[in-house]
Amino acid sequence: VSLREGLLRARAGEADHPAAVAVFSLLAKEHGTPLYVYDAETIREQARALTAAFVPRFPRLKLRYALKANTNVHIVRLLLAEGLSPEVVSEGEIRAALLAGARGADVLFTSSSKSPSEIDFALRHDVLLNVDNLDELAQASAAATRLGTTARVSFRINPGVDPDTLHQINTGIAESKFGVHLDGGIARAAYETATRLPGLSVTGIHCHLGSQITETAGYEETARKMLAFVRELKEELGLRLSFVDLGGGLGIPFRDGESVMSPERLADALKPIWEEEVARLGYEPELWIEPGRFLVAQSGLMVARVNSVKTTPVKTFVNVDAGFNTLLRPAMYGAEHRVRVVGKSTPPMVLDVAGDVCETGDILAADRSLPRPEAGDLVAFLDAGAYGFAMASEYNARPLPAEVLVDGDTARVIRRRGTFEELHRSEPAGATGR
Ligand code: LLP
Repeated sequence: VSLREGLLRARAGEADHPAAVAVFSLLAKEHGTPLYVYDAETIREQARALTAAFVPRFPRLKLRYALKANTNVHIVRLLLAEGLSPEVVSEGEIRAALLAGARGADVLFTSSSKSPSEIDFALRHDVLLNVDNLDELAQASAAATRLGTTARVSFRINPGVDPDTLHQINTGIAESKFGVHLDGGIARAAYETATRLPGLSVTGIHCHLGSQITETAGYEETARKMLAFVRELKEELGLRLSFVDLGGGLGIPFRDGESVMSPERLADALKPIWEEEVARLGYEPELWIEPGRFLVAQSGLMVARVNSVKTTPVKTFVNVDAGFNTLLRPAMYGAEHRVRVVGKSTPPMVLDVAGDVCETGDILAADRSLPRPEAGDLVAFLDAGAYGFAMASEYNARPLPAEVLVDGDTARVIRRRGTFEELHRSEPAGATGR
């Protein structure tokens, strides 16, 4: 059987199918658990769905991948090969993009808190600085002058739009820490300042509403506000911007049978607004979109092994060898990842899948209707390709899991499992007796 078929069966809810059982048993045997498994073809399919939705509707377009969702260089490389450009949040992510083969000039660096050394590193590599505030703007100007270069800059704008998603990942609302506020002439003053400071070339404008957005309304309102502001900049400051970045945030279905906003629906909703506003503006900037989750979430599963099953007077717990150290989203956001029990077709019962971190809050899945597994069985958590491994830690002195990329009939280790030695790699030798 093909490796991919096993993964797709599990995703479709047929984790008891022989193809799924064979593939998960094989991968767990060869690579151990907990294990991240990604399907390369799913990443390509998602990139192509995004491209197919936007390319025909927007002649001037750049699609980016927000590396924070998954910084593995092999994954980044796959997305670069699909024609996407990197969007990054740190020096480490700039380096990941460069390692994957991106040109510095093609990288967009957004962060609300950039250190002086990050600004220098970005400027040395000709990375486009997406500036969050006036303090940072002055630092960028000074750094560019000192380095004898010109910093290409845009502003991250806080548009004051609520896209109606989880509070923790809602970034475009007025009270969030991100960006220069559009309202009250603040953003306009920022652009004015940028045109006056030395060493800067003002190139565009950016915003990002939040994450896991499943409706188009917030994007529509934002596109109108942003383009109206771009017109204000042209008319009042004589500025002509080369791009308008509307951020990422495209949601995915996290439940069986759920359907959410597709990239076509988003592109369709934006197109008339874009055309109308561009006509009023009198020139056409590039439209940039920069999803993370949409491109990689569904490609990834986290596979864990059941250590024990216990029934208490209140609940039945399935104790697995993964936890919020390997998949943080349930504990951090109350996110619900579907769980598939591999190779079991017994009638479902209500179970809690509990992690192995020594904390009450380490429940990976609560009150789920699942076939009851036994110790030694495998379970898979779906949609873990985005913000899964990327947010993993070594908490409780557990080495980081391995990552495997399935491509057709091959499974390649794209990150080997962490080791116990590595847990202490940066401690001075005296502390470990070495
Ligand atoms: N652009 C900017 C400026 C961002 O801040 C983000 C995500 C993205 C793009 C990509 O957003 P996406 O398309 O993936 O929704 N750890 C959380 C998500 C945090 C997102 C932070 N910013 C989670 O696991 O749900």
